[in-house]
Amino acid sequence: MVKICCIGAGYVGGPTMAMIALKCPDIQVVVVDIAVPRINAWNSDNLPIFEPGLDEVVKACRGKNLFFSADVERHVADADILFVSVNTPTKTQGLGAGKAADLTYWESAARMIADVSKTDKIVVEKSTVPVKTAEAIEKILNVNHNGIKFQILSNPEFLAEGTAIEDLKCPDRVLIGGRETPEGKKAIQALKDVYARWVPEDRIITMNLWSAELSKLAANAILAQRISSINAMSALCEATGADVTQVAHAVGKDSRVGSRFLNASVGYGGSCFQKDILNLVYICECNGLTEVANYWKQVVHINDYQKARFVKRVVSSMFNTVSGKKIAILGFAFKKDTGDTREAAAIDVCHGLLGDNAKLSIYDPQVAESQILKDLSMNKFDWDHPLHLQQYMDPSEISKSVSVVSDAYEATKGAHGVCILTEWDEFKELDYKRIYDGMHKPAFIFDGRNVIDVDALRKIGFITYSIGKPLDPWVKDLPAAPPS
Ligand code: UDX
Ligand code: UDX
Ligand code: ADP
Repeated sequence: MVKICCIGAGYVGGPTMAMIALKCPDIQVVVVDIAVPRINAWNSDNLPIFEPGLDEVVKACRGKNLFFSADVERHVADADILFVSVNTPTKTQGLGAGKAADLTYWESAARMIADVSKTDKIVVEKSTVPVKTAEAIEKILNVNHNGIKFQILSNPEFLAEGTAIEDLKCPDRVLIGGRETPEGKKAIQALKDVYARWVPEDRIITMNLWSAELSKLAANAILAQRISSINAMSALCEATGADVTQVAHAVGKDSRVGSRFLNASVGYGGSCFQKDILNLVYICECNGLTEVANYWKQVVHINDYQKARFVKRVVSSMFNTVSGKKIAILGFAFKKDTGDTREAAAIDVCHGLLGDNAKLSIYDPQVAESQILKDLSMNKFDWDHPLHLQQYMDPSEISKSVSVVSDAYEATKGAHGVCILTEWDEFKELDYKRIYDGMHKPAFIFDGRNVIDVDALRKIGFITYSIGKPLDPWVKDLPAAPPS
């Protein structure tokens, strides 16, 4: 029986291993993590992450060929194939702060693997890492190895949160990078044999290690670039009276462009896009490619601009002040169908509104109050100026200006304005007449996700703003930005 162990029971490791266990009943899969509460949650009825369809997959395999354990070293020592899926955040201090990936967790995992291994192993990079990390890991593993052989593979994960199970079941492609030596090719084949149980062979692409590592960064950078491109267009649409949805539709119909991932929004979030682009920027800078680095930086700048632009619209529309006004925030997660708030646009938008002394009432169907308060209490890290940590508000003040509530009607009751920051389906179905009746007038609604029916809401009496759409006359007559 092949034994697989995955180090890191997070958003990537957990669902990916659950799918391997489901599709390969003859393979034993153990997911290990140093975070004991996380492992306990994986072993309970309340999984640590919310992901549609995940509960069913875990229930079908857990205790049979899928196990979650905090006994990291024992299971690492036992495994034939080791996936490493630990966190690789952006460095916040030291060399490369603000851009470079912090490989502390990766390095400590690699050292532990080297220390406890008694048999040959295939070590698979699953978390996104800078190009050439495999080389560094190889060096760590192959020093003091007592004759044990390690083969390093790069097998980046392309799942998106909210659709992880579908993405894992039917991936567009599986990438496997490895050494072009006979041992390297054998290792690639062994991993290919695992995926080939359910992924058609022509979707399993093999390549060299560095191409696989760079492909992951490139894919995320190009996806984020599409969003920044359409978001940049959304600003121009508002200035000219064009409608960004119509423009995106027309552009996307070109088969060379394609229609997906062209939804204008208040800004992309998530644990990958910003981090991976900054990583790419850092690698370019290290290689003296300043123009290339500056090109990709612009994608992140436009994303920051989009969030700031949204806040300015809110403030300028509401008579240039939101001080003391209640603003309902509908949605805090970085996208629908996840409880994840990493890099969520909502964090920056809320900071912006709090900076103008607004009172926020926040509702998200999947994000806990403690998470929201934690996110808002953290210092804002300026990626382009990492030495300037901006403290927006004293954490003790946050709770005085922010309340987290358990439904959209409570959030909007007595509010002056509503901001929709996550495209949860339930926000399309709300009784907006009821919401309008409970609000101060004029009642404003700012849709950062283009989910509302603008005409219907205007008929009710709302003053509406939607990203990249022709402006409500009320909004139009005001300056797009408060005079500086
Ligand atoms: C372009 C648009 O494609 C067309 O829809 C519009 O109506 C007019 O402008 P054209 O300039 O004739 O058409 O040729 P196109 O095939 O788009 O190529 C433009 C340039 O991009 C060429 O120099 C081509 O070599 C280059 N190119 C194109 C690349 O370098 N890489 C590619 O992948 C595609
Ligand atoms: C992304 C990649 O899609 C995935 O392949 C990679 O493995 C990890 O990073 P994820 O961050 O989970 O996945 O979600 P994704 O669906 O890509 O959305 C990222 C952000 O972009 C979200 O905030 C989303 O709301 C935003 N987005 C997406 C838009 O604003 N407009 C779009 O058209 C698409
Ligand atoms: P991702 O979104 O990439 O899956 P997460 O932060 O959700 O990232 O998960 C990474 C997990 O890796 C965390 O649960 C963390 O506790 C775990 N981890 C980090 N370092 C180690 C290590 N050396 N051994 C075991 N688990 C680790």
